[in-house]
Amino acid sequence: FLSGVEQAPADPILGVSVAFRESTNPNKLNLGVGAYRTEDLKPYVLDVVRQAEKRMIEADYDKEYLPMQGLAEFNEATRKLLLGEGSAAVAESRVATVQSLSGTGSLRVGAAFIGKFMPGAVVYLPNPTWGNHKNIFADAGVEWREYRYYDKATIGLDLDGMIADLKAAPAGSVICLHGCAHNPTGVDPTKEQWAAIADAVESNGLVPFFDVAYQGFASGSLEEDAYAPRLFERRGIEFFCAQSYSKNLGLYAERIGAINAVVNDKETAAKTLSQMNRIARAIYSNPPVHGARIAATVINDPALFARWNEEMGEMAGRIKTVRAMLYDNLCKLNPDKDWSFVTRQIGMFSFTGLNPNQVKHMTEKHAIYMTGDGRISLAGLSQAKCEYLANAIVDSFTV
Ligand code: LMR
Repeated sequence: FLSGVEQAPADPILGVSVAFRESTNPNKLNLGVGAYRTEDLKPYVLDVVRQAEKRMIEADYDKEYLPMQGLAEFNEATRKLLLGEGSAAVAESRVATVQSLSGTGSLRVGAAFIGKFMPGAVVYLPNPTWGNHKNIFADAGVEWREYRYYDKATIGLDLDGMIADLKAAPAGSVICLHGCAHNPTGVDPTKEQWAAIADAVESNGLVPFFDVAYQGFASGSLEEDAYAPRLFERRGIEFFCAQSYSKNLGLYAERIGAINAVVNDKETAAKTLSQMNRIARAIYSNPPVHGARIAATVINDPALFARWNEEMGEMAGRIKTVRAMLYDNLCKLNPDKDWSFVTRQIGMFSFTGLNPNQVKHMTEKHAIYMTGDGRISLAGLSQAKCEYLANAIVDSFTV
């Protein structure tokens, strides 16, 4: 009865990892998925995660179901990490938080909520955006459109285009904003630009939906990277925010994150929470506990939290080092081209501007696995491989 089902296309990001695993080329390099690697290109389990797990084993926890909204200590901790110690919304119980399945699951609960309680609302996504955003909203039955974000000519933010598109969006539209370290471009608004975006959102009655998947990876500081959602909260703008601990705590496979609705009164927050719980119940019932305990332990313990900040700085610092090395190698190989975008971009990625043909060449000739949009994950690059990658990039301009 399923014979009419068509083959789904390979996932633009996770499909790259599948192809990488199948390659037998000894020089192969996986710069597809945004997953942090050590200088030896090995996965990294953070020291704070190991310490938290040790404490958890000693505490001998049971494996009972969590409530639909997840672990209370985690929910409290994740709100605090996002909105800061001094947050009025947190103090006044105006944040509905549901622990969910990392960034994707949190966005999906938010999308289902929009579909159910904001009928007809269209979600505006930056162009370009993370490959999964479109699937998530479309599968939840929420229409999406794009707003201008990236300016190819300047390899920077097209602020005027973005503001014009926000102003043209009907009131009540949802605007997806990457909280920091925009994926895939590595181009973030400055503080002044965030203020202009908040003005446009406010004056047009739009509803921001922050996706915060890289807190810590833009500046190296967890605090600083929460600038945008904290600004919106201070200005009294109501918004959704999805959080992920896949990258900054390296908890990829634990599927730990949260969906928050920051609103202007306590009663609305409580009702919103009850409806988000209902949505979660129907999709996966209640979330897994292991990653939630790890994140809560790390955020709530001052010594572990301080150590996490150090490790965060180390991870972000390693990426900055390979960025600089890649840039130096590219300049050495082709001094006539302006490569400064490599060091101007921030976060885990570099958006190289390579076209699909060049990407194909990078993979087929050099075994460098990257996404078709020309994004490379610098979190998967080592210093030893910078020259190899630079050679391949320069070579790809000959095709
Ligand atoms: C990425 O963009 O590489 C990550 O967010 C991983 C994913 O799930 O796509």
